[in-house]
Amino acid sequence: MKITTKINLLITSWLLVILLLVNAIVFFFFMKTTVNMEENVLFQKAHELLDKNKIPKSLTLNQVTLQSYMSSHSFIRIVGPDSKIITEVNNYKLLDRIQPKFTKHEESELLPFSEHQNLVVRVPIHLNHQVIGTLEIGELLTGLEGRKDLLLAIMATVTGISVILSLLAGRWLSNFIMNPIKSMISTMEDIEQSGVPKKILIQNETKDELQKMATTFNRMIEKLQENIDKQRQFISDASHELKTPLTVISSFANLLRRRGIKDEEIAKEAIESIYSEANRMQDLTKTLLNLAESEHLEGIEKQPINLVALCTTILNQLQKVYKREINLVEDGSTPFIKGNELKIKQVIIIFLDNAIKYSTDKIDVFVESNQGMAVLRIKDYGIGIREEELENIFERFYRVDKARSRETGGTGLGLSIAKNIVKLHNGEIKIQSKENVGTEIIISFPLAKI
Ligand SMILES: Nc1ncnc2c1ncn2[C@@H]1O[C@H](COP(=O)(O)OP(=O)(O)OP(=O)(O)O)[C@@H](O)[C@H]1O
Ligand SMILES: [Mg+2]
Repeated sequence: MKITTKINLLITSWLLVILLLVNAIVFFFFMKTTVNMEENVLFQKAHELLDKNKIPKSLTLNQVTLQSYMSSHSFIRIVGPDSKIITEVNNYKLLDRIQPKFTKHEESELLPFSEHQNLVVRVPIHLNHQVIGTLEIGELLTGLEGRKDLLLAIMATVTGISVILSLLAGRWLSNFIMNPIKSMISTMEDIEQSGVPKKILIQNETKDELQKMATTFNRMIEKLQENIDKQRQFISDASHELKTPLTVISSFANLLRRRGIKDEEIAKEAIESIYSEANRMQDLTKTLLNLAESEHLEGIEKQPINLVALCTTILNQLQKVYKREINLVEDGSTPFIKGNELKIKQVIIIFLDNAIKYSTDKIDVFVESNQGMAVLRIKDYGIGIREEELENIFERFYRVDKARSRETGGTGLGLSIAKNIVKLHNGEIKIQSKENVGTEIIISFPLAKI
């Protein structure tokens, strides 16, 4: 069943239940008050009759007198202590069915027969402080019948109209709710068929949950599109990066093919270039694999790592290889973090490698703990990064100075890899840099609970 039909049926049935309940209550009170009113009229009539006419001990009364208290479809009778009728006037034969009854207390009775309501009231007749008989006045409630039928007709009509209106309103309401959802479904189907992300058209600014749903969907599509674009850019950048060494290799190989190895000078140069470009390609593919891997490290094994000890080892190794002054400054807190040692080592090397490549002076490394975080700061006094470049350097393949990077041999992937790994360890990277002054990288990780 469609959701619109469901909403419609649910609202209408609920309304119907409420209406029937209200109708029943109204009907009940209407009947009760009307019968009460009729009862009061009959009691009044009985008392008037008894007050104005002295009933003898024989309980006989002039028929003409009684007739003057009659209305159409009624009877008046005087009943003796043995419940036998002594005097009676009756102009509606059916009322004969009501049994006479002697009673010492006032009472009334509602008797339904032949589809009509009949009311009878009984009032005791006193003589010398003794009850000698009962005056009974009975009446067919014709007025009540008419009013009851009218009330039922009104109620049926109102209920019918309400149900129709509710069905119409329910349809309008469910269409109102469902139209944006329908449009979303059709957009999603379009996306499914064409494979192209597409936004939902938001026609009016309703600021409701549906609009929120549509805007959230659109934001999601925007992100998806962004990711697809990034992916495309990545493939195009990666192929471009691979194309450059391949072109060099292919042209030198061609040179060797044409000129042969007779010209030893050229042959040597060609072989050297082919070798170095092939190495470059090898490095690049390794880095690319590394990057791909860094994006899927969720289930990686983590253990407590002593940051000071790890930095000391790395610094000793790098100092030997690069013959550069790298100082380790620690605040004595010996912070431990929880992580994968190999990956954390890779992050530190990526930043130190940059510091070494993009500066010639000394490099300072600080290890501290601050507000529940282990903080690692790598500070160089080199070329620095212009402020407008700072947001780009974490992009894959992004290098500020492409020509210089070719000399230094970078691929522009280091920071992307580092960012992925730090994010996986719930860490954060901040950069402070000034052109020709230097760069400070601040990496913080949550302290491990040991
Ligand atoms: N300490 C630094 N000082 C100045 N520029 C820097 C520094 N660190 C990064 N950069 C700039 O950011 C760019 C991106 O750095 P990233 O480490 O991602 O790539 P890369 O060093 O060029 O190559 P690799 O993939 O080999 O690390 C660098 O090319 C450089 O322009
Ligand atoms: Mg680098």
